[in-house]
Amino acid sequence: MESVYQVLRFLHVLGFVFMAIPLFNLIVVNERTLLGVPFQYHADRYMENIIRRGATRCFVFQGTVLATGVLMLLVGPLGIGTLWSNWVLLVKLLLLFTLMGLLSYVHLGLQPRIEAILATVNADTVPPADLPARLKPYRVRRKRLATLCLFLVITAIVLGLQVYGRFSVGLTVALILLAGLFAWRANQTLLRFGWI
Ligand code: HEM
Repeated sequence: MESVYQVLRFLHVLGFVFMAIPLFNLIVVNERTLLGVPFQYHADRYMENIIRRGATRCFVFQGTVLATGVLMLLVGPLGIGTLWSNWVLLVKLLLLFTLMGLLSYVHLGLQPRIEAILATVNADTVPPADLPARLKPYRVRRKRLATLCLFLVITAIVLGLQVYGRFSVGLTVALILLAGLFAWRANQTLLRFGWI
């Protein structure tokens, strides 16, 4: 059972590492902005394919984190009842459900609207002048939500490290503030040097 637990723990960690998709989507979007042209069919189609398919991948990684987290409680020393007595686990669970909800909204609510607009053009047609303006509100909202998701993922990691032993409140708050700062930087810049 010890090895099963360690494999679950490994998959749990791998799952939330791969949930970093919002970070890389923000980088892709910021790179796209640097092209400096409001609409370029191939570039925009390429970017939207990465984002659209990234959502499906992220659902799978979220499911992995949820399943391995619950299984670790079932087969490990803590027991499933700990979910109600250990506030760190409960908050992580709520954060994960929030992330799933936000991703569902982006993938099922915003993305189809962007796809519908893009479906009206192809590589051979001249795009209508108002196309970038029609895409913009959905893209702006999606980018904001990606930033929020990145912040929530890092916050969940800060809490994840405290399942067995707590950090001081000051350190937890400081790390969550840094998570917010990093997510904001990822929204605004290319993070050319990784952290900044
Ligand atoms: C976005 C969601 C989540 C993130 C980012 C996350 C992150 C983490 C991190 C960083 C650890 C420490 C890993 C280690 O030190 O080995 C951890 C451990 C753990 N997580 Fe999660 N977690 C998430 C969701 C969940 C959920 C939903 C559950 C249960 C319902 C859960 C259950 C556990 C358990 C039981 C451990 C202890 C593993 C151990 O160290 O033995 N996690 N998590």
